[in-house]
Amino acid sequence: MNETPGGVDGKNLSREFHDRETVKLVLDLGASFASERRLDNLLEKIVDHSRLLTNADGCSLYLKGADGRLAFCVNKNHTLNINLVGASENNALFTSLPLDPTYVSAYAAIHNVTVNIPDVYDCAEFDFTGPRRFDEKNGYRTRSMLVTPLATREGEVVGVIQIINALDRHTHTPIPFDPHFEFLTNSLGNYAAIAIHNLRLTEEARQSTVLLKEANRDAIYSLAMAAEAKDDDTGDHVRRIQHYTAALATRLGLSREDVDLISLSSIMHDVGKISVPDGILKKPAKLTDEEFGAMRTHTEHGMKILPKKEFFRMAREIARHHHERWDGGGYPDKLAGEDIPYAARIVAVTDVFDALTSERPYKKAWPFEKAMEVMREGSGSHFDPKMIDAWVQLYDEGVLLRIHQQWST
Ligand code: C2E
Ligand code: SIN
Ligand code: SIN
Ligand code: FE
Repeated sequence: MNETPGGVDGKNLSREFHDRETVKLVLDLGASFASERRLDNLLEKIVDHSRLLTNADGCSLYLKGADGRLAFCVNKNHTLNINLVGASENNALFTSLPLDPTYVSAYAAIHNVTVNIPDVYDCAEFDFTGPRRFDEKNGYRTRSMLVTPLATREGEVVGVIQIINALDRHTHTPIPFDPHFEFLTNSLGNYAAIAIHNLRLTEEARQSTVLLKEANRDAIYSLAMAAEAKDDDTGDHVRRIQHYTAALATRLGLSREDVDLISLSSIMHDVGKISVPDGILKKPAKLTDEEFGAMRTHTEHGMKILPKKEFFRMAREIARHHHERWDGGGYPDKLAGEDIPYAARIVAVTDVFDALTSERPYKKAWPFEKAMEVMREGSGSHFDPKMIDAWVQLYDEGVLLRIHQQWST
């Protein structure tokens, strides 16, 4: 035995060092597992830490699937250089195991207990034909095995880890698992179960957020189409405005998020028309001054209809101000220049262009060239000049025609 300064022998020093490392490792597990965002990575980390903690040669992980079986998800073996991460419960590596207590993993999962076996070849209580086949195929000898459920404190078992062949720290030969590892791997299993559980909750929350967003989008389209009061509306008008607006906002240099928000908000610019009588909306002729007065109220109505939620802030601005003019001659507030909200200035351009180039109850569709003349003439009077510059570029590049053709049925 080597003497070391301070009278601490080498073996104890090593043991004490090892214990400190172990405590640190166990205490770090919760945070370390919780930091993983992908299930694959988390499962791999659980297996790596199980091996590290127990100084074992191999480790596998099973997840309990919706079908009640144990799906074989990760298998690592240091000696055999096996590194299989087959990942989620939907994508099990090779096989899945029935929840049949003749298999030690299933037994541990069913009873939520840790099983510590010194040598599986001497253990008649479980069916180890699987590991024996594995040994034959790989020229390996599976000896000691520590099987621990991944269980929450409430006792919900989400999976099992199966640690193989504890190694002596000096001779590196397989030895039985020290019983104190049972407590450590229990804690590890507990942290692992919580992390897996939380990751699934996060995924569910993400999914339901996506569904909610889709539902919101559908509702927004329906509302916009209802407001147009056209019996035969296919939603093309709404789609054209959305895509023209996205193209112009992108060309003006807005960020991806702003482009998404402004183009979605643009869809709702005319929702206020829902409170304008059909007789006026569908009149196949020029409006009288009185009728046009009623028509103009669609801007204020639109703002009032839309929810006073942050998500609709831009939509409310657009609804109220999309008929303002750069020279201050528009409605309802006679705002001029940069006093007009930026998003409303964008939709003023896309809305008028689409109105000109499509058929209305009161007018025919104009050819693009003629519509572009009106747009150019309106630069600095009706429209913000820098927006018309960008609009002319989009026209020259054929972008406007492509959008028009894609959304006209
Ligand atoms: P809208 O049909 O979506 O038209 C939106 C805007 O496009 C109009 O806003 C106007 O700035 C422009 N625009 C549409 N058609 C023409 C056109 O033939 N020539 C020119 N230079 N610009 C055009 P505005 O004028 O404030 O009208 C708002 C809404 O009032 C229109 O939305 C439409 O629903 C209705 N409207 C306007 N004029 C008439 C009309 O003569 N008859 C009927 N039935 N409705 C009208
Ligand atoms: C086990 O209990 O995990 C081994 C089952 C097998 O593959 O035969
Ligand atoms: C925006 O509405 O995102 C742009 C703000 C501005 O330039 O006025
Ligand atoms: Fe309008």
